[in-house]
Amino acid sequence: MIQMNSLIELNNQKTIPCLGLGVYEMTLGTKTVETITYALQKGYRHLDTASLYNNESEVGEAVRASGLRREDVFVTTKLWNSDHGYDSALKAFEKSLNLMKFDYVDLYLIHWPVPQRRLESWRAFEKLYNEGSCKAIGVSNYMVQHIDELMKQAKVVPAVNQIELHPFNYTQRKPVVEHCQKHSICIECYSPLTKGKRLKDAGLVECAKRYGRSTAQLLIRWGLQKGFVTIPKSAHSSRILENANVFDFSISEDDMNVLEMLNENYSCTWDPTNEP
Ligand SMILES: NC(=O)c1ccc[n+]([C@@H]2O[C@H](COP(=O)([O-])OP(=O)(O)OC[C@H]3O[C@@H](n4cnc5c(N)ncnc54)[C@H](OP(=O)(O)O)[C@@H]3O)[C@@H](O)[C@H]2O)c1
Repeated sequence: MIQMNSLIELNNQKTIPCLGLGVYEMTLGTKTVETITYALQKGYRHLDTASLYNNESEVGEAVRASGLRREDVFVTTKLWNSDHGYDSALKAFEKSLNLMKFDYVDLYLIHWPVPQRRLESWRAFEKLYNEGSCKAIGVSNYMVQHIDELMKQAKVVPAVNQIELHPFNYTQRKPVVEHCQKHSICIECYSPLTKGKRLKDAGLVECAKRYGRSTAQLLIRWGLQKGFVTIPKSAHSSRILENANVFDFSISEDDMNVLEMLNENYSCTWDPTNEP
């Protein structure tokens, strides 16, 4: 039975809470700190930020304001596209760490498979991992071709691949999901709520009604039942609670299949499928 903060073991034996709070587009300073602190006080133990999101300092502040110990909160941040390269990646990491006022991050991800310098960045990631300033390292938006390229040179296998994933694109993403699973790379679903774009889909609405749940809750539960980590974002307290209230019901196998039939190869963010 999956529970709030059930831990998923990564391929380096570290663990990651199955549900996280995404904080993209939360950039309102004090309000952001309050929102994230609220989520932590209500039981979230995993935060997903990035240097791109411009709120790493608020994330650090919220962790301290929550009264929790640093080691009780799993924090991810990411290397942005303009910071690729060995030295630049090390510098960018240092900046993120300073903004958060942390000694380490739990997970550092390459945000996007920028061609040319991504392998150099990975060498920097391995250095940070070996020094202990990142407890785990991984990638995001990597498709099969990017994983294969990386696996040829990696000394440290990525622990995570964070990709856009929900029933509306699952069939299209199945090859990369299965490829990652073959290499014991944990899958994280980003934009699990399709950024709100498919929450009124008729098939999804009908399925959610059978459980007396919201469509957002069904999508989150779907990802958890597939064994993925999922990181829905909300800046509203009622939705932060709603999105975590998914541990007291299960979607039947039949309905898991019904949800998968909603596939329409839909991407609400950038689609990295054809990225060289
Ligand atoms: N690695 C990457 O390239 C990448 C790309 C995109 C996202 N991400 C990560 O994944 C996280 C989640 O993805 P996302 O922010 O793109 O989208 P998302 O979580 O799929 O959807 C967020 C949107 O849904 C709304 N929402 C949240 N809960 C709701 C509910 N219960 N009912 C109705 N609407 C609800 C939010 O509005 P309110 O905030 O107003 O509630 C917001 O507009 C991000 O925050 C980020 O951490 C990573």
